[in-house]
Amino acid sequence: MWSLLLFLVLNKYTVYGDFNPGTSNYDAYGVKIAVNNMLLVEAQSAAATFLVQFSPYNYTRSTLQCTIDYDDTTHYVYTVGVGFYQNTSAYPYFYFAGEIPNGWAATDSSGHNGTFIGIWVNQDPNNTQSYVNSQQSISCDYFQVENLQFISTYGHQEFFVVAIEPYGQYAIGMATDFIFIYYPFSSSNITLKQSTPVWPNNATFHPLAADATGTFTVVAGLLKNSAQSQVRATPTVYVLRNSNLSILT
Ligand SMILES: *[C@@H]1O[C@H](CO)[C@@H](O)[C@H](O)[C@H]1NC(C)=O
Ligand SMILES: *[C@@H]1O[C@H](CO)[C@@H](O)[C@H](O)[C@H]1NC(C)=O
Ligand SMILES: *[C@@H]1O[C@H](CO)[C@@H](O)[C@H](O)[C@H]1NC(C)=O
Ligand SMILES: *[C@@H]1O[C@H](CO)[C@@H](O)[C@H](O)[C@H]1NC(C)=O
Ligand SMILES: *[C@@H]1O[C@H](CO)[C@@H](O)[C@H](O)[C@H]1NC(C)=O
Ligand SMILES: *[C@@H]1O[C@H](CO)[C@@H](O)[C@H](O)[C@H]1NC(C)=O
Ligand SMILES: *[C@@H]1O[C@H](CO)[C@@H](O)[C@H](O)[C@H]1NC(C)=O
Repeated sequence: MWSLLLFLVLNKYTVYGDFNPGTSNYDAYGVKIAVNNMLLVEAQSAAATFLVQFSPYNYTRSTLQCTIDYDDTTHYVYTVGVGFYQNTSAYPYFYFAGEIPNGWAATDSSGHNGTFIGIWVNQDPNNTQSYVNSQQSISCDYFQVENLQFISTYGHQEFFVVAIEPYGQYAIGMATDFIFIYYPFSSSNITLKQSTPVWPNNATFHPLAADATGTFTVVAGLLKNSAQSQVRATPTVYVLRNSNLSILT
């Protein structure tokens, strides 16, 4: 029994460092589905594709559905996101964030490693209604990745959540080791912080779900307790200021 326990412990340490995500679990590592009144997107890890369904959702025919292949097969997508009130007169787009698993590849095809965030933008000149009217199948061929940004200074993150500003103008990403704000448009940029100093008492916090307004982000997760504590973690909710990613309450 003890040797089995020792084996399990050693085994865990041997595989630690090599991240090989299971591709059949839709609950693992992040939030795989997002929807607003323009589109629904789901990250399908096993097929390395995004399923996109355009609104109006009362058309249950599959003609308003299409799939996009991931831009790089070495990418594992943790999370997708859309702004709730995203501009309906602009091209439809969604956010995606993930990691290049070091158990799959050292770097991706562009030589990057670590975690990433970007947007997929549909630049189809025809709107959804024209496909509805003409009864033709909608195409995902006009989707393009824009402003992909990489974070290579932190290792594997077990869970990675992204809150999208309601108008889709920026995203706030949170993982155990880091927190960032990402602007995909105009002067696309990412402002990255180590996460520990953000939480009270330099705590270790594992973010699991988040949502943003134009001013604040609410994040729920598990706060790691001290080694002396009998309870390993405490469910905790924080409110952050988007402006400088500091704790409000
Ligand atoms: C779906 O909803 C749209 C907008 O409300 C409406 O114009 C259309 O007739 C509906 N279509 C079906 C098939 O119900
Ligand atoms: C929405 O998109 C249109 C077309 O790109 C643009 O002219 C307009 O300024 C945008 N509105 C907002 C609030 O961003
Ligand atoms: C990415 O590669 C650089 C250079 O080899 C290395 O210093 C860094 O630790 C790597 N990052 C990750 C997350 O593997
Ligand atoms: C898309 O637009 C082009 C012209 O811009 C038109 O020729 C074509 O028929 C349209 N397709 C659909 C499905 O509406
Ligand atoms: C990042 O881009 C946004 C939007 O273009 C801009 O408002 C902001 O000042 C930029 N931040 C930095 C650090 O460059
Ligand atoms: C948190 O860590 C920073 C440096 O990493 C230190 O300056 C600060 O005093 C710490 N705060 C607390 C409450 O421990
Ligand atoms: C963030 O902004 C708030 C309000 O403007 C300020 O009180 C706080 O000190 C700032 N925190 C950091 C870490 O910059």
